[in-house]
Amino acid sequence: MVAGDGIGPEVTRGAMQVIQASGAAVEFTELDWSAERYLKDGATVPPGGFATLERDYDAVLVGALGDPRVPSNIHAREILLGMRFQMDLYANVRPVKLLDESLCPLKGLQPADVDFTVVRENTEGLYADVGGVFKQGTPDEVAVQEDVNTRKGVERIIRFAFHYAHNHRRKKVLMADKANVMTHAHGLWQRVFKEVAVEKENADITATHMFADALCMQLVRDPRPFEVIVTNNMFGDLITDLAAALQGGLGMAASGNIHPGKTSMFEPVHGSAPPLAGKNAANPMGAILTSALMLQYLGLVEEAQKIEAAVLEAVRQKKTTQDVGGSLGTRECAAWIADKVQH
Ligand code: NAD
Ligand code: IPM
Ligand code: MN
Repeated sequence: MVAGDGIGPEVTRGAMQVIQASGAAVEFTELDWSAERYLKDGATVPPGGFATLERDYDAVLVGALGDPRVPSNIHAREILLGMRFQMDLYANVRPVKLLDESLCPLKGLQPADVDFTVVRENTEGLYADVGGVFKQGTPDEVAVQEDVNTRKGVERIIRFAFHYAHNHRRKKVLMADKANVMTHAHGLWQRVFKEVAVEKENADITATHMFADALCMQLVRDPRPFEVIVTNNMFGDLITDLAAALQGGLGMAASGNIHPGKTSMFEPVHGSAPPLAGKNAANPMGAILTSALMLQYLGLVEEAQKIEAAVLEAVRQKKTTQDVGGSLGTRECAAWIADKVQH
């Protein structure tokens, strides 16, 4: 576990308590990779850190990284993006599931109406940090940020999305891009998507496409038609914050950073929320639902289902934090869920 910064330690403590209550046979080691550690000795990830994770652990549970005392955000980049890139966790899976009508900001939507998953490419695109600045600080300054799209990277995330659909009994995969503008990069995405969609094993899946701007509009207007959405790294980041709002806000949103068969990393979608830190106010449900995703990945399906059911019950009974309409603190909310899981 890498609890990290801000509200990270508070929400992961809750998640760990719930995992333990579920009886899942999970052994935890806590690593102090964080802003605190970085400010103390300048270390972000110790030498060989990622190799150790891959060798000695089955999964990593992360809280959040980001601290105003590290304005460059270098530790978060090295730790969080470091895990995604160096451990090659190419699929960022972000389920969007409304647990109760009361949590949705859209009028009249029922839980069944908001139930889709965003599969975000997680190892390239605009996040590759390729580029540079030229003539910095002069009126002629140029800043270039390259969008890296490889055949291998695009193909494996699109295939992952179709596999995900099969494994979760979904019938529709939609790709979101801006092929109308990013003709080179998203032309590649279009070609690969069409190739994979017509393969025999995908015959029972409807493959469609929308431009990412139109998708954002449709998600807010009517999210009901969506099942699996596959997209690039940057669009996936934006779409999943928007989608989090449909399920009650960032405090409810869970995610997995997955490379099938390898040590994978699980983190809530939200960040370190510095203004909330230390106030026992952060919603732990995103982290708790994330721990259920992690247990599922580890094959501890029954325990994962128990946790999801307990979170659902907590939402129904308003045993929640204030961001989703309750009056509990982080600790009290997590303790209620842990108790429910145990009994
Ligand atoms: P944020 O997700 O921390 O906060 C956005 C808004 O959502 C705030 O209003 C916050 O109060 C609210 N919020 C977030 N999590 C919540 C929770 N569990 N319960 C209740 N409300 C919650 O995003 P930000 O403010 O843009 O970023 C803060 C820091 O976190 C930055 O340093 C950023 O880089 C970092 N960040 C890290 C991750 C990550 O580690 N995965 C993700 C996003 C942002
Ligand atoms: C997320 C976050 C990260 C991202 C940041 C903290 C680097 O916003 O996990 O969605 O942009 O991927
Ligand atoms: Mn984000």
